[in-house]
Amino acid sequence: MYLTTSIAVLITLVEQTELAEEPMATHVHLICLAVQPLMETAPLPQMEPSALMRLVDLWVLRLRGICAHQRAHVARAMVIVEVHQIIVRQHQGVKQLSELVMIQAQREMGEDYCTSPDCQFNYGPACDANKIPSGTNTSSIQRNKVGSVLYGSAGIYDCVQAGDMALTFDDGPFIYTSHILNLLQQYNATATFFITGNNNGQSFQQKRYVEEFTDDLLGKGEIDNTSLAWPALIKRMYSEGHQVASHTWSHPDLSNITSLQRKNEMWKNEMALRNILGVIPTYMRSPYSSCTAESGCEGDLNDLGYHITFFNLDTSDYLNDSPTLIQNSKNIFDAAVNSSNPSTDEFLVIAHDIHNQTSQVLVEYMLQGLKAKDYKPVSVGTCLGDPMENWYRTDTSATLGS
Ligand SMILES: *[C@@H]1O[C@H](CO)[C@@H](O)[C@H](O)[C@H]1NC(C)=O
Ligand SMILES: *[C@@H]1O[C@H](CO)[C@@H](O)[C@H](O)[C@H]1NC(C)=O
Ligand SMILES: *[C@@H]1O[C@H](CO)[C@@H](O)[C@H](O)[C@H]1NC(C)=O
Ligand SMILES: *[C@@H]1O[C@H](CO)[C@@H](O)[C@H](O)[C@H]1NC(C)=O
Ligand SMILES: *[C@@H]1O[C@H](CO)[C@@H](O)[C@H](O)[C@H]1NC(C)=O
Ligand SMILES: *[C@@H]1O[C@H](CO)[C@@H](O)[C@H](O)[C@H]1NC(C)=O
Repeated sequence: MYLTTSIAVLITLVEQTELAEEPMATHVHLICLAVQPLMETAPLPQMEPSALMRLVDLWVLRLRGICAHQRAHVARAMVIVEVHQIIVRQHQGVKQLSELVMIQAQREMGEDYCTSPDCQFNYGPACDANKIPSGTNTSSIQRNKVGSVLYGSAGIYDCVQAGDMALTFDDGPFIYTSHILNLLQQYNATATFFITGNNNGQSFQQKRYVEEFTDDLLGKGEIDNTSLAWPALIKRMYSEGHQVASHTWSHPDLSNITSLQRKNEMWKNEMALRNILGVIPTYMRSPYSSCTAESGCEGDLNDLGYHITFFNLDTSDYLNDSPTLIQNSKNIFDAAVNSSNPSTDEFLVIAHDIHNQTSQVLVEYMLQGLKAKDYKPVSVGTCLGDPMENWYRTDTSATLGS
C-alpha cells in the first residue's frame, strides 16, 4: 500500500545544440515545472511504483511535445529530457512540499506555466516568439491617446460603473471558444477576449485528459492563418460586439524581455489582428500579470498606447480544469458575487477560453449567477465607460478581406 498523498515533479529540458558560433553549447532551459497536486490524479495514492513511473514518462512526453515543432528547425539538435528531480514522499510533509514547488512554479513560469510557447524565446528563428505575421509592420502607425482611461502605468483593476461585470478570457482563441461565444449570445452578454497570437502550448491542454498520449502534438498555429479556425472565431467575436484585446504575440513575461522584444510582442500581435480585423486593439493584458515599471514595461505600453488591464476577480479556472475541480472556481465566483451589491459593486473577472471546463461549465454558471444578481455582462471598455471607438486603432493595410 502506497500512502503517497502528493507528487511533485520537476522536469528540465536540456538541449545540446551545435550552433555556428557556439559549437556544442549546452543550453539548459527550465521549460516547464510541472506540478501535479494529487486532486488531479485521483488514483495516485493506490498506484504501484511502475504505474507512477509510467505517469512520469507521459509527462516527459508532453513536455517534449511543447517544443517539438521548434526542434525540427534546429540543426543537429540533440534533446535530452531528463527528470531532474522526482519527489515522491510518503506520509507527512508531502502537502507542504508540493505547495512549495507550486509557489516556485508560479514564480518561474507564471500562472499558466505549461500552456504558453515562450520557451526558448532567445533561441532562434524557429521559436514561436520569433515568427512574424505577414503584412506591414504596425510600429509606425499613429497612436493617439483618446478617452479618459489610463494608458500604461500600473494598469486597471476595476470597472468604474457599479453593476457591471466584465467577463474576460485570456489565451485564446481555441477549440473551446465557439461554445463560449454561443453561450454569450444565448445570454445576451458581451465579454472581452485577450488574444494570444501564437500560443502553441495549448495543444498540451487539449491532450491533457487523453488517456493514450502520443508525442505527435500539432501546434495550434498562428491566429491569422486562414487555413485554421482562428480568424473566423476572432471575426465572430468582433462582429458580435465582444471586445477583442491583446495578450501579446507569444505570451512571454513582458518584464523579463528586452524593450524591443516587448514592443515586437505587441506589434506582431497587432499585425496578426490587423490581418484579421483591419483594426488593432488599445487594450491589453500582460501574461502572468507581469508588467513592471522597473523593467520599462509600463512605459513601453504607454508609448504604444495600451491600456494595461488586470482584474479584481480571479476564477483560477486554469487550476481547476477537470469536472470535479471546476467547483472550486464556481465557489470562488460565488464567494465574491453572492454577498455583493450591484448598486455599489462591480467585477472585472478573469477566466481562460482555452480550458474545456471553463467553456462547458464555468461560463454558463457565471452568466446565470450574474443575471441572478442583476449584474450587466459587458466588455472591459464599457465597464470603464470608454466608448467602442476607443477600443481599437485603424490599420487597414494587408487585411485578409472578407
Ligand atoms: C518593426 O519595425 C521596427 C522599427 O523599424 C523594428 O524595430 C521591429 O523589429 C519591426 N518588427 C517587426 C515584427 O517587423
Ligand atoms: C440584450 O441586451 C441589450 C443591451 O443590454 C438590451 O438592449 C436588449 O434588450 C437585450 N435583449 C434581450 C433579448 O435580453
Ligand atoms: C497554416 O496552417 C496550415 C494548416 O495547419 C499549415 O499547413 C500552413 O503551413 C500554415 N501557414 C503558415 C503560414 O503558417
Ligand atoms: C530574465 O530573468 C532571468 C532570470 O531571472 C534573468 O537572468 C534575466 O536577466 C532576465 N532578463 C531580462 C531582460 O530582464
Ligand atoms: C451563491 O448563490 C448561488 C445561487 O443562488 C447558490 O447556488 C450558491 O450556493 C451560493 N454560494 C455561496 C458560496 O453562497
Ligand atoms: C469537455 O468536457 C466535457 C464535459 O465535462 C466532456 O464530455 C468532453 O469530453 C470534454 N472534451 C474535451 C475535448 O476535453
